[in-house]
Amino acid sequence: MRAGFKVPAHSVTTRNLGAAYPLVAEAGLGHRGVLVGHDLLGGSFVYDPFELYAAGVLSNPNMIVFGQIGRGKSSLLKTFLWRQAVFGRRAWVVDPKGEYAGLARLWGVRPVALRPGGEVRLNPLDPVAARRADGILDDPDRRQCELLASLASACLGRPLQPRERAAVDLALASAKAARAVPTLPQVVEALLDPDAGAAAGISTDRERLLEDGRDVALELRRLVAGDLRGMFDGPTTHGLDLSGPLVVLDLSALYASSALGVLMTCATAWLQAALTQQRRRGAFAFLVVDEAWAILANLGVARWLQASWKLSRAHGVANVAVLHRLSDLSAVGPVGSEQVGLAEGLLSDSETLVLYAQPPGEAGRAADLLSLSSTEVDLLPQLTRGVALWKVGTRSFLVRHVVSPAEQALVDTDRAMVEPR
Ligand SMILES: Nc1ncnc2c1ncn2[C@@H]1O[C@H](COP(=O)(O)OP(=O)(O)OP(=O)(O)O)[C@@H](O)[C@H]1O
Ligand SMILES: [Mg+2]
Repeated sequence: MRAGFKVPAHSVTTRNLGAAYPLVAEAGLGHRGVLVGHDLLGGSFVYDPFELYAAGVLSNPNMIVFGQIGRGKSSLLKTFLWRQAVFGRRAWVVDPKGEYAGLARLWGVRPVALRPGGEVRLNPLDPVAARRADGILDDPDRRQCELLASLASACLGRPLQPRERAAVDLALASAKAARAVPTLPQVVEALLDPDAGAAAGISTDRERLLEDGRDVALELRRLVAGDLRGMFDGPTTHGLDLSGPLVVLDLSALYASSALGVLMTCATAWLQAALTQQRRRGAFAFLVVDEAWAILANLGVARWLQASWKLSRAHGVANVAVLHRLSDLSAVGPVGSEQVGLAEGLLSDSETLVLYAQPPGEAGRAADLLSLSSTEVDLLPQLTRGVALWKVGTRSFLVRHVVSPAEQALVDTDRAMVEPR
């Protein structure tokens, strides 16, 4: 270089720099929110779905976190919720592995532990508080019907036939006539002993209506009288403290159950209802379903989950689901099938995607669905633990999640592998 040759320094705002060097110099998402970690292309990465929604960057606050086992999905969520507590944000967590107890301790609350024959009962038919979102009224009756139909279809392992669906609707109506907040045993009873008047209303007779609803009743009965009884088969236990900043539903006693998806659905339905009833005006909350792949494994239940996500904005709730593989959503059906439509729906209702490492091939298969560039597809299998590709609306960030020493005990799920308890 010739002595004396100097390139004058050039100052530019991050907004202009971002435009001049897209992807190389992302302008970031602003500074309103919690620090997640380092943006690997420079700077810190700060994120808050409610702030971004208010600023018009996102059109919904929901988030899906994908990643292979042990990549740091739950760690991200635990620290994220803890950091959000500073802003008074509440969090409600469906915890199938029982690993949010440390977070609960920090917050000074006790997880609600569910097990067959345990002390706590939750009624999945507790109604949500009705609110309007985008012109659609969140109809509590409709939600209960959808939930029952989804549970029945998950238990049966197939979609309900129209006559079964009608039997469920009528049984729910008859249970509600007897009691404002119905329970699953009442619905099963009404399915097995239908009302002649209700049958006449759909031009059939009692015997035929009983036959139409019998398979559904026998499957739902498992939650009421079978091996899963004692958790979702009565009014919600009195005295549960839901006023704290964090509510954790510990389902670890059920993790090995073949009905995990159904049980998580009941738990999620109850949480949604309780959260909407408890919500304080202007207070935002996160509803986290860790290991949500167990719910999405069943088409009927996945449909219910998607419908309930749609209405979350009206309640100031950001839904967060954790999945393992992109194909938990996408490769479950042929192109144009209902499964793929459902995956697209859930994705369009979740404008933040956090993608930890995926096996080679997975990313390629889901590239279209997730609008991944070819660089991003190549990158995904190479991401190391704690590093994720964040897709926030139309923008992409490569982020290393930073765990502070004080938070280490919260996230250390590996310890059980090396230290005897
Ligand atoms: N950002 C990070 N930096 C360093 N270590 C991390 C980071 N995130 C997670 N870990 C460590 O990785 C281990 C696994 O993390 P975590 O349990 O969050 O993974 P996961 O993706 O939720 O796994 P699984 O699919 O089994 O639920 C933990 O012991 C945690 O301490
Ligand atoms: Mg996890």
